[in-house]
Amino acid sequence: MIFNRVFGKFSKDLGIDLGTANTLVYIAEKGIVINEPSVVAINTRNDQILAVGRLAKDMLGKTPPSIRIAHPLTKGVVSDFEVTEKMLKFFIQQAHKDTWTLIPRPRIVIGVPLEITEVERKAVEDAAFSAGAREVFLVEEPLLAAIGARLPVEEPVGTLLVDIGGGTTEIAVLSLSGIVTWKSLSVAGEEMTKNIVTYAREAFNLSLGEHHAEQIKIRIGTAISQKDPLEIQMRGRDILSGLPKEILVHDGQIREALERSIRTIIENIKVTIEMTPPELVGDIYERGIILSGGGSLLRGLDRLIALETGIPVRVTEDPLAAVARGAGALLEQDDLLHLIALPSTSQGGFV
Ligand SMILES: Nc1ncnc2c1ncn2[C@@H]1O[C@H](COP(=O)(O)OP(=O)(O)OP(=O)(O)O)[C@@H](O)[C@H]1O
Ligand SMILES: [Mg+2]
Repeated sequence: MIFNRVFGKFSKDLGIDLGTANTLVYIAEKGIVINEPSVVAINTRNDQILAVGRLAKDMLGKTPPSIRIAHPLTKGVVSDFEVTEKMLKFFIQQAHKDTWTLIPRPRIVIGVPLEITEVERKAVEDAAFSAGAREVFLVEEPLLAAIGARLPVEEPVGTLLVDIGGGTTEIAVLSLSGIVTWKSLSVAGEEMTKNIVTYAREAFNLSLGEHHAEQIKIRIGTAISQKDPLEIQMRGRDILSGLPKEILVHDGQIREALERSIRTIIENIKVTIEMTPPELVGDIYERGIILSGGGSLLRGLDRLIALETGIPVRVTEDPLAAVARGAGALLEQDDLLHLIALPSTSQGGFV
């Protein structure tokens, strides 16, 4: 289309990881320019947006009734269309802020979870179009994570990628630019945070805020016992007295809280390997399992997976940014992009 070619010269294309927990935007020649929580603060009196990203996340659990904190994505898919659209628009404008663009109508590659339905796909596409995109390409997240990790996705070689995000864990065996076997679980980072909230309530009658629980997970969470013990003060409200309470917890206790989630992830990795054709399993043994996503940063998780599967495990460099990096890289590989993008749900876009 001539229009698109003309616009193409002046707009900067974007790779976006629209995640349950975090949204990242990659722009050519610059790299990652936006890296913010997928959180929006809304004034309930007039529906205006008060803050987006980190500023909104910092308000979590501290709001008066006139402010609502929205997480517009659940399990990686749009659960609140209007807010998702506004959030995307905000981030796209931010991304273009310091870039010289006459007409900021970018082509956008967006990562989506495996097993996304057509309705959900359309919601993501529409949000991107109404946020100003000229063309939208949806690509399954594990493929983007693998491209972001510079793995040879196009070759006839098996790669086992496990992306542990906020809302979903995606386990995928890739070969020849496609996904051969996979599992998608709703057990990921957020579930681990909830495990800690539940543990505090059951073990200590302590009611914890989710933000604090996440910090505890990041600071002293482990999948396997560590050489040096870790500990932290857990602060919350005593459920019985209603008063503030502080309890010193150590890594062993938090590990116990996380155990079931971790076990679920590992069991599903094993099941995925069992479903995989033997030639590809051979490749995986040789090349190892690759982890990405924020959940892969949990201390010792890589070692535990390696122990349990007998396969070497490597966490990709900067695992939180792998999907966005892959989306950005894909914008420069037109053939591969058209090969792996999911079919469009509309004829939408610019006409
Ligand atoms: N050091 C860490 N240890 C354990 N968990 C961590 C660490 N750092 C981040 N996380 C967790 O990683 C999750 C966010 O990861 P990520 O940004 O990859 O998710 P997402 O892409 O937004 O979600 P999804 O892919 O499910 O839509 C959060 O639950 C966060 O608590
Ligand atoms: Mg993700």
